[in-house]
Amino acid sequence: MIEGLIKVRNLMIKGLYRAIVRPILFRIDPEKIHDIFIKVGKTLGKVTILKAITAFFFQYRNEKLHQELVGIKFENPIGLAAGFDKNAEMTDLIRSVGFGHIEVGSITGEPCKGNEKPRLWRLKKSKGLVVWYALKNDGCKRIAKRLEGKKFNLPIGISIAKTNSEATVTKEEGIKDYLKAYRTLKDLGDYITINISCPNAYGGQPFTNAKDLDQLLMRINEIRNKKPIFIKMPPDLSHKDLDEVLDTIKYHRIDGIICANLTKDRKNKKISEKVKDTGIPEVGGVSGQPVRELSTEMIKYIYKKTNGKYVIVGCGGVFTAKDAYEKIRAGATLIQLITGMIYQGPQAIGEINQGLLRLLEKDGFKRISQAIGIDANK
Ligand SMILES: Cc1cc2nc3c(=O)[nH]c(=O)nc-3n(C[C@H](O)[C@H](O)[C@H](O)COP(=O)(O)O)c2cc1C
Repeated sequence: MIEGLIKVRNLMIKGLYRAIVRPILFRIDPEKIHDIFIKVGKTLGKVTILKAITAFFFQYRNEKLHQELVGIKFENPIGLAAGFDKNAEMTDLIRSVGFGHIEVGSITGEPCKGNEKPRLWRLKKSKGLVVWYALKNDGCKRIAKRLEGKKFNLPIGISIAKTNSEATVTKEEGIKDYLKAYRTLKDLGDYITINISCPNAYGGQPFTNAKDLDQLLMRINEIRNKKPIFIKMPPDLSHKDLDEVLDTIKYHRIDGIICANLTKDRKNKKISEKVKDTGIPEVGGVSGQPVRELSTEMIKYIYKKTNGKYVIVGCGGVFTAKDAYEKIRAGATLIQLITGMIYQGPQAIGEINQGLLRLLEKDGFKRISQAIGIDANK
């Protein structure tokens, strides 16, 4: 009965979002909308009754979705990916929207203004976004103050990256900057993600190179605490480069791998818009549908190669329960998303969670753990 009512609730919100809300939002500059959502989220999160109302409209809970991974209890597998709540301002609200965890950031050693505007565009036909923020954030010190002493109602991942500036381009300065962010934030939240894959960073992605990554992880190990560390991968690595990265991280007590970040490859066949038609420049990275298959294939590859040793977080183009389930069957234990929520509406999180249970049941599984990686060897 309750399950049926929740389904109807989600269908109604979805209809409303598609027919009225999305057409209005999509006429406005995407960064403005992003900023408005953060402000609204921050306000709703401060008031208990507003959180309860949000939960009434969006949350879906079911014990069968619970998982305990690397010592962290997740109420459901769907998380908000890094990049939406860059400055950790929405952590109080996000569980009411239906998420099972949130990754805040990416946060860098120094505050960073990011690129000149415009720096965010919609690829409506391809159902993606072009992101060229370039690690805009308040910096690790200010954000640490915001998080210190707070009690969270869901697991918090903290994504750290290298400050986007000329000053951090050399390997040594880059490592120092990561270390500053790590040292400042390592005792807050539940896990830390080392983002080595920002497509917009000054000087490229030096730490996707196995040798440099090895040095970065060695230095992090020297000051490491017991909290889990995840690595966020780019979706565009060749198998050879990916093998080298996997070979490196096995020596460094890495707990999880997030697959994947934005794609830099603008020749991606899933991107149908042409620069000459849209005027959207070929800068930054692309999210959403163009990353979906790339990330799922990468999950399969890593799961198989590492015999399911890591918590794999499937991220990229998850719009529906089917998309999430595909990634779980490929080897993901958790899922993260941003673009799916923007295109489908905020009820998508509840819909995906409820739909996942239906898909698991259809295949005769009682829990997520039974489905993880079963397609990896196909
Ligand atoms: C607006 C925006 C900002 C992002 N910023 C970050 C970031 O700061 N750090 C990061 O690791 N990933 C960032 N990402 C990448 C997402 O975390 C995610 O990997 C990617 O968008 C693919 O997931 P999706 O298709 O569900 O959006 C950003 C994505 C978007 C859309």
